[in-house]
Amino acid sequence: MKRKKYIVGNWKMFKTADTAYNDFLILQNHLENKSAFTEQDSLLKSAPFHVGICAPFVFLPQLSDLANNIDIYAQNVFWEKEGAFTGEVSVPMLKSVGVTGSLVAHSERRQYFHETNFTAGKKLKALFENELRAIYCVGESLQERENGHVQSVIKTQLEDALSVCKENLQNAQSTLLSIAYEPVWAIGTGKAATVSDAHDVHVLIRETIAKILGTNIAENTRILYGGSVKPSNAKEFLSDHEIDGALVGGASLNPNEFFKLCMESCM
Ligand code: PGA
Repeated sequence: MKRKKYIVGNWKMFKTADTAYNDFLILQNHLENKSAFTEQDSLLKSAPFHVGICAPFVFLPQLSDLANNIDIYAQNVFWEKEGAFTGEVSVPMLKSVGVTGSLVAHSERRQYFHETNFTAGKKLKALFENELRAIYCVGESLQERENGHVQSVIKTQLEDALSVCKENLQNAQSTLLSIAYEPVWAIGTGKAATVSDAHDVHVLIRETIAKILGTNIAENTRILYGGSVKPSNAKEFLSDHEIDGALVGGASLNPNEFFKLCMESCM
C-alpha cells in the first residue's frame, strides 16, 4: 500500500510569537509555490508529501488560522475533558481552535515529565474519542540498544499504550494514528540511526500494530523516523518503503532549511 510521505516539524520550546508566525508563513509560501523551486514538477507530483508542524500551545490558534494545507499539532495534551487540572490543556480545547492533533509521549516528555506508556494510552484514547490525530513517539535509549533490548522496548511501548485506546481507534477513522520511531540517542545529537536499523524497527512496529489493532489500521498507520533528520540525509530515509515520513526537530526551525529537507526527501 502506498502511503503519502508525511514530514512533520517539531519546534519544541523554540520561537516567540513574531518568529513563529513569520517562519510559518515563509514555509507555507514555499510549499504553495514549490513548483517554482524545481524543474522536475512532474516528479514532485508523482511523489507527493504532506507537511505538519508541532508548535507550543500559545501559537496554536493563530497557526491554525494561518494554515492552508499544513497540519498543526500540539506537542502534548491532557486526557481529561475538563476540570481542576491547573496548567493542563484538554483535547476539546485543542479541537476548538482547529488543531489537527497532538504528539504523544515524545521522549523529552518521557524523560523530563515522567510520561509513561500508560499515560500515553490515556492521551491517545482522548484524542481518538474526539477524532483528532496522534503521533505516538516510541524509541529505545542507547543502553537499551547496547543491551539488545530494542525489540522488547518498542513492543512494550506499543502494547501498553495501544491496549488502552484500542476500541476508540477501531471505531474511528483508520488514519488517525501515526507512530514516530525516535531512538533516544539520535535526538538532537547529530547521530542518526542507519536506514537499515530504522527499517527493521519500522517493520516490527507495523507487525505489532497489526497484531493489536488489525491489518487495516496497521496498513493505514504512517510510521515516521525521527532523530537528527536533516536535508543531507532525509532522502535516504524517505526512499525506504517502510519509512513513511520524518519527525524533524532542529532542522525544522529554519523554514528555508525545512522546506529544502522536504523537497530533497521526495525528489
Ligand atoms: P532532532 O529532534 O531532529 O533535533 O534530532 C527530533 C525530535 O525530537 O522529534
